[in-house]
Amino acid sequence: MDTPRVRTVSGMRPTGPLHLGHYFGVLKNWVAMQEEMEAFFFVADWHALTSDYADTSNLRANILEMVKDWVAAGIDPQKCVIFRQSSIKTHAELSLLLSMITPVSWLERNPTYKEQQQEITAKDLGNAGFLCYPVLMAADILMYQPRWVPVGQDQLPHLELTREIARRFNHLYGEVFPEPEARLTPAAKCPGLDGRKMSKSYNNGIFLRDSMDSAAQKIKGMFTDKNRLRKTDPGNPDICNLFPYHVLMADPEQQAEIREGCTRATLGCVECKAMFLKNLAELLEPLQTRRSFLDHNPDIVHEIIQKGNIQARKVSARTMNLVRKKMGL
Ligand code: TRP
Repeated sequence: MDTPRVRTVSGMRPTGPLHLGHYFGVLKNWVAMQEEMEAFFFVADWHALTSDYADTSNLRANILEMVKDWVAAGIDPQKCVIFRQSSIKTHAELSLLLSMITPVSWLERNPTYKEQQQEITAKDLGNAGFLCYPVLMAADILMYQPRWVPVGQDQLPHLELTREIARRFNHLYGEVFPEPEARLTPAAKCPGLDGRKMSKSYNNGIFLRDSMDSAAQKIKGMFTDKNRLRKTDPGNPDICNLFPYHVLMADPEQQAEIREGCTRATLGCVECKAMFLKNLAELLEPLQTRRSFLDHNPDIVHEIIQKGNIQARKVSARTMNLVRKKMGL
């Protein structure tokens, strides 16, 4: 008998163009996982609405742009299922059903919820949809009965809630949902241009679609080791904002060469930045070639999503039949 392939599910909110932080923090991991297992990757457009409900003028464009970035980065529709959350209406149904068995107190004490409520003051996050964010996320995940969910550290409380909800469902209605496990993205340190976390809201990112000219401009303005004022001063790669990029992109030999050159004051920051730019071009150019093909062929992007939607619907229909039966509907 064939053993079913191990499954994985993950989603990303379409909030704008993807940057290197997304690439090294998420996409690289997804690309590896699509080789190993049956993978479902989706655009979490309903989740984008939980906080960005007031102005939705960019949503439709962001969805397509994000899928283009994914495919350009190597997420391969031949190897995984790429779909759009809002096209699979059963995610809403399952979310509703799971909300029946989820105590409000579980949602209110979710640390990510509390933190964002406090930190994001520019938007009113008192809406029910934002409180119920993790229930919808649990539905997204459990629908596909995956073994692994690749997420970043900040998503762990949500995943824990998913597991608790699954346990409660199984306890009340019988075994349906295996408890999924987090597959933590290996911590990829990818600081923004100013040394803070790379983030769209800080405007400190290098985007996957940045031209090499624009990337060169950004890199030129980057902080390095701020104690190193002249080339003849020895630098310290461990406090330099640029060096983490070499860790991500330079081969071990070049990394060693840079570390030595910096600490011995034989390699200046300008040359060091030139090395980064060259490595960046090697990474981004093939990606941008694929990207530009998709820009010129938007139908292909629509087809990828539509084909993925059909596959996701098939799997979700099976899960929902079981869920409805178990719940007496
Ligand atoms: N909350 C996730 C994030 O902000 C996005 C997401 C929605 C997700 N549903 C998911 C991730 C299901 C993994 C699985 O990054």
